[in-house]
Amino acid sequence: MIKVDAIKIQNVTKKYQQHEVLKGINLSIQQGEIFTLLGENGAGKTTLINILSTLIVPNSGHVEIMGQTLKDPDAIRKLISLNSQFNTLDEEFSGYDNLLMIARLRGRQAPKDEIIRLAERLELTSFWKKKVSTYSGGMRRRLNIAMSLIGDPSIIFLDEPTTGIDPKNRLEIWKIIQEIRDAKKTIFLTTQYLEEADYLSDHIGFVHDGKIVLYGTPAEIKNTVSKTYSLQVADETLQMTLALLDRSGITYAVNGQLIELDDENAHKGLGLITDSKIDVQKFLLNENNLETIFLNITRKEEVK
Ligand SMILES: Nc1ncnc2c1ncn2[C@@H]1O[C@H](COP(=O)(O)OP(=O)(O)OP(=O)(O)O)[C@@H](O)[C@H]1O
Ligand SMILES: [Mg+2]
Repeated sequence: MIKVDAIKIQNVTKKYQQHEVLKGINLSIQQGEIFTLLGENGAGKTTLINILSTLIVPNSGHVEIMGQTLKDPDAIRKLISLNSQFNTLDEEFSGYDNLLMIARLRGRQAPKDEIIRLAERLELTSFWKKKVSTYSGGMRRRLNIAMSLIGDPSIIFLDEPTTGIDPKNRLEIWKIIQEIRDAKKTIFLTTQYLEEADYLSDHIGFVHDGKIVLYGTPAEIKNTVSKTYSLQVADETLQMTLALLDRSGITYAVNGQLIELDDENAHKGLGLITDSKIDVQKFLLNENNLETIFLNITRKEEVK
């Protein structure tokens, strides 16, 4: 299958007064994928989404959305929808009326049929004649997502769609996001939950200090940090084991009952310990997760 770029971002910068929020963002996002942008609070995720969805103008750089550039924002707006970080619902209207309003704004023909289909798909029908002010957080989010699906946009920006949502509703939203991708739409997501990025994304980009400092599939990203192993021996042999490692110049860390070794030292250490007839109760590869990487990226900055 030929991979087509849905979103192309080249050297995009954005400054607020003296504050350079984006210092040259480069990214290509393929059609039909879930791309997740990660970064600390204030890293510029919403700023980039606002640029791509034509709400704000960058200071410099080039953006292409399905071949359309920022010179023609109306053409871009026809292709995309934005689910902003904060719900944009009219509290005094029912869910149905909120959907109808958006459908009319988007100039949809036969909006009622489309709304009914969407409401059913997002399990909103039982509440949709009630005022939004009576909705729970999870229902508001689902309604917001339904609104962003009206008009069948090709690209959907979801800025923190699951923040503040309980685990059950979060799982439902994950399912909806996957269904949107299965319908060959492109999704640009941001999230505070790293396991969400890991689970949903085809590609992830980390924005830090105004740039994309890391990009890849979740597996590629997790492989950027070296492997570590945990080893456990019986309590009564722990001190003896540590003395053995010390004598052999093997570096390690002790974490409760476990001896933590890096990739280089793990197999050498294991060999020495077994040669000394010390019984190894556990020897396992620690799984790297996005959290470790996220903390590594943000910690480096503090040390600078
Ligand atoms: N209109 C504005 N005027 C001045 N500064 C702004 C404006 N909008 C955003 N900023 C600043 O730009 C930086 C990036 O903000 P942005 O909202 O893009 O971050 P974010 O990564 O989405 O953060 P969060 O995870 O908290 O949503 C912040 O320091 C913010 O204060
Ligand atoms: Mg934001």
